[in-house]
Amino acid sequence: MTTTIAITSGKGGVGKTTIAVNLALSFALQNKETLLLDADLGMANAHILLGINPNYSLEDFVNGNLSLDKVITTTKSNLKFVSGGNAINNLLNLSDLERHKIIKSFNDLNKKPQFMLIDVGAGAEASSMTFMASANKVIVVITGEPTSFIDAYTLIKTSFLDYKMNNFGIIVNMSSSPMQAKLNFDKFQSITQKFLDVNLKYVGHIPNSQKVKNSIITRTAVVSSNNNLETKAFKEISSKLSLVETNNTGTIKFFDN
Ligand SMILES: Nc1ncnc2c1ncn2[C@@H]1O[C@H](COP(=O)(O)OP(=O)(O)O)[C@@H](O)[C@H]1O
Ligand SMILES: [Mg+2]
Repeated sequence: MTTTIAITSGKGGVGKTTIAVNLALSFALQNKETLLLDADLGMANAHILLGINPNYSLEDFVNGNLSLDKVITTTKSNLKFVSGGNAINNLLNLSDLERHKIIKSFNDLNKKPQFMLIDVGAGAEASSMTFMASANKVIVVITGEPTSFIDAYTLIKTSFLDYKMNNFGIIVNMSSSPMQAKLNFDKFQSITQKFLDVNLKYVGHIPNSQKVKNSIITRTAVVSSNNNLETKAFKEISSKLSLVETNNTGTIKFFDN
């Protein structure tokens, strides 16, 4: 059975891609079969953090040129990766039907992974919502900034009212200390639960780190076999993801037979 985990946020630039890539690597380093899907379609950039230049992307699958198995790239860390293509392709304007075709096609993979991380585009647009609703677990990334709180609240509200999602894991990124991160979570939870009947689980924090910042420039993810502070933070989050419950959206799910 595959556990699918969507990494989302209300606003862009809060660290979704950084977290999706490093969490996926963390699972792979723990010898779990892991697939990372870059579903920030048309704006895909996870391959940059992975330091790879995939020959194919989901576009080749959507155009009918290749099977899904053929667009998978395997990285040095034994992480499997599906690229979402770049800004000049036509994945920005997929229809619901095409998105459902993509989601269903994962059933046909030769080898199903244990974990699939999905880097989802920011905000409550149809494309992002479809991928969120199709995952077993939904993680919302926030930072301590008020704009991140407001946009994450709006995303959760739309997910709850329009898609019946009520379980969310929260990661606080770019925090100055573990205590500050937990305080930010508590504040966000109390605001959200005042108005919405949703269940938020705190799955951890990533420190504001120069190493993480530099990783995009050097095109190497920060999670590695070295047990640095950042690697530990991602490993801890990977162990807490099981706390997040699955949403019963009644809609199509990945790896749903
Ligand atoms: N924990 C962190 N510490 C320092 N910089 C970070 C951290 N997480 C992300 N960043 C930086 O923030 C920027 C946005 O991150 P990114 O993962 O691309 O966000 P998103 O996918 O949400 O748009 C990048 O330059 C990234 O290096
Ligand atoms: Mg991103």
